[in-house]
Amino acid sequence: MEVDSIGIASDHAGFFLKEKIKKLLAGKVEIKDYGCTNSESVDYPNFCQTLALDISKRKTQAGIAVCGTGFGMSIVANKFSGVRAYCPWDEYTCKMGRLHNDANVLCLGARTLNHDRALDLVNLWLSTSFDQSNEKHLRRLDKITQIEKQTLKSH
Ligand code: RB5
Repeated sequence: MEVDSIGIASDHAGFFLKEKIKKLLAGKVEIKDYGCTNSESVDYPNFCQTLALDISKRKTQAGIAVCGTGFGMSIVANKFSGVRAYCPWDEYTCKMGRLHNDANVLCLGARTLNHDRALDLVNLWLSTSFDQSNEKHLRRLDKITQIEKQTLKSH
């Protein structure tokens, strides 16, 4: 994926993995941290919403969102037009989400993934490009955009 900057967000469950991901990416891409700022209990929608809104408005190019399972973050992120969030659990699913779905938000479960494995998934997500050469994938993403227009998604 060709990005200069990415946004990152977590709730309390994802806080420590978020900090590890920031260390991993330091010096490679610009990172905008959308919180949270410590491991005290918070509500994941608050932190994912600001990240997803910026991606939807194209103020941020792509994002990583970490919670206990990744599910809450992906549910919130996918409410926003232009956001394609997913929760890969291994190398294959991570790669396919980029190749076929152009997934621009990587959601990770800090309680469900080994953290070293999660860091490997971050590298794989960032280094895998959408397969633009295949017309059928472009057509399917266009259909998602049409669905977004028909429904009342934000932005
Ligand atoms: C927090 O306990 C947990 O529910 C949250 O991090 C997340 O897993 C929700 O999807």
